Amino acid sequence: MKRTLILLLGLMAPALGFAAGDAHTYPDDEIEIDWEDKAAMQRGARTFVNYCLSCHSAAYSRFNRVGKDLGIPDDLVREYLIFTTDINGDKTKIGELMETTMTPEYAEEAFGLVPPDLTLIARSRGVDWLYNYLRGFYVDPSREGIGVNNGVFANVGMPHVLIELQGLQAPKYRIVKDADGNETEVLSGFEIIEPGSMSKSEYDQTIHDLVAFLDYLAEPYKQTRENVGVGVIIFLLFFLVLAYALKREYWKDVH
Ligand code: HEC
Repeated sequence: MKRTLILLLGLMAPALGFAAGDAHTYPDDEIEIDWEDKAAMQRGARTFVNYCLSCHSAAYSRFNRVGKDLGIPDDLVREYLIFTTDINGDKTKIGELMETTMTPEYAEEAFGLVPPDLTLIARSRGVDWLYNYLRGFYVDPSREGIGVNNGVFANVGMPHVLIELQGLQAPKYRIVKDADGNETEVLSGFEIIEPGSMSKSEYDQTIHDLVAFLDYLAEPYKQTRENVGVGVIIFLLFFLVLAYALKREYWKDVH
């Protein structure tokens, strides 16, 4: 009896913990990444080099590797994806790593910390989190210097770098009562107060594509791995039939 009870409690623990630690965050959406959709990843790569590479590196990948995987010819990679220069002022070579030109010292001074490398961010944070984070910036005058906060990353040190696309949104709150009757305000929505160049659905699509690119970046071999996996399963099924037929053949005379 005691053991059953312990077992039951053990099974319930994650559920209880989830309820207790359910720090409400907004937005809270989920996305699907289509690994066949290279066009989406190409658009994401474009957004990435234009809006993110100035502060963040993706220093575990190279421009030409990204080009190859996403089906972008070298000359187009040079034209549309490489905007950085090396120390001599020459355009970064296509075989180089995707590094930011911002020095860590400068970043430290400007933001108080060095923006993290984003090569593996889709693995550590997950695609849903990224999708919500990049759509979650809202106006907050109490944040000195950057003037924005974020619905999934409270007091984030990153400015809203996509403001010209998304515009500026104001937070909406909802009152939630806990069991003791204490009221707290939780973030429950946004309202655009200064429109950007994109509509909401266009912006969502842009972020979806950017996250698709980050997902690719974090695991460039994913597709190969999945294809190999399918091949192996098909082979094993085929082999099962063969092995069974062989077994029947061998045991035919015994029975
Ligand atoms: C102006 C510089 C700057 C630009 C441009 C910028 N970021 Fe950031 N980013 C930061 C800083 C600084 C932080 C660290 C924030 C913190 O820890 O408080 C950060 C943090 C992040 C994080 C959270 C990392 C983590 O898990 O702690 C993600 C994800 C991110 N940035 C993605 C992006 C993407 C995608 C873009 C391009 C759309 C971008 N950033 C553009 C400065 C920048």
